[in-house]
Amino acid sequence: MNTVKIGNVSEVSEDRWLEPRGAGGSGTHVLDDAHVSSWRERGFTFVGEFFPPALLNQLEAAARERFPDAGTTEADQFTNFGGPLHFPSAVRALNDVTLHPQLLSAVAELLEVIPANLRLTQSDLWPKYGRGEKLADALDNSDQRIHVDYPNHNLAHPTEWSRPEAVELVVYLSDVEVCGGPTAVVPRHGEDDPAYRWPIVDSPGIADLDYVNDRCAAEAYFAAQRPELSEWRKSLYERERYTRFKRGDVLFYRHDTWHRGTPMVPGTLRLVQNIAFRRAESEWISILHPGWAWSAYRGDKMLERLIATASLDQRAVLGFPQPGSPYWTEATIAAVAARHGVFGMDMTPYREALGESIG
Ligand SMILES: [Fe+2]
Repeated sequence: MNTVKIGNVSEVSEDRWLEPRGAGGSGTHVLDDAHVSSWRERGFTFVGEFFPPALLNQLEAAARERFPDAGTTEADQFTNFGGPLHFPSAVRALNDVTLHPQLLSAVAELLEVIPANLRLTQSDLWPKYGRGEKLADALDNSDQRIHVDYPNHNLAHPTEWSRPEAVELVVYLSDVEVCGGPTAVVPRHGEDDPAYRWPIVDSPGIADLDYVNDRCAAEAYFAAQRPELSEWRKSLYERERYTRFKRGDVLFYRHDTWHRGTPMVPGTLRLVQNIAFRRAESEWISILHPGWAWSAYRGDKMLERLIATASLDQRAVLGFPQPGSPYWTEATIAAVAARHGVFGMDMTPYREALGESIG
């Protein structure tokens, strides 16, 4: 059997790669039926060449300016999540990817809502570096334990599988053939799949279990704490499939999809943008960043310009009051125009909706 080398730890057999497939939809349906049903039933869909290459070129160039070069001492010490690039950003391409109309349409399709009923909860650009030697640290991010993402996104617990409330996605800005580090996911097989047993609590960090990120350390810890379920977790790893990503591909998944990050080729850099949306009413799913308004007052007026020039759907995704909202009166329309009008904000839709509600 042909095998493909990823990172410094694994060889992946050809039949365990997931290949991206073009969006394939038309009109307002960005995704085709197969993409939508894969996300709803298997827990993910892997879409090829989703974003315009020129937009991603700008984003990648801005990211490379802000993060250490691969192979440097600085890069070796960079093991954390996150960093300085998150929404809303002075890097316009990051904001444009986050609120791209095609992306909002695709996420809305997955959640069966209109784009204005989505809310953004995360958008940040993460660098991950391939290192020659694994750090002996339980929190190391290189070879992650298999996990679900909901605990540090959701104050409660994901709803039943058939009524999802959130979409997470990874926008790849690198090529797996260069840097390795594919995302591993466990496809769900039907309602009785033992991998997707309920409630979802059998992972380090959930309930009274300690948070451990590194795969080896996490499974040793889990075996000591929950020996009866250790074999069950092994079966999750055995069922992993791996994203064969190129720049511009997008993995859409869920807060209740089993997945993990895998090791990379030493001396390389992988850039991804992580984005998440929830349904408007699901307030128990937190925003991971400082509130958007906290970015006001900057010299470049980045946030104010963004609000003024965004579409109605884009504003709605940020929680801005929509036309017809009780927020709007003659007085608030005039006040918001006094604040944002200088940046070109058109108040007509709010004024027209107010006229309709009065009429
Ligand atoms: Fe994750």
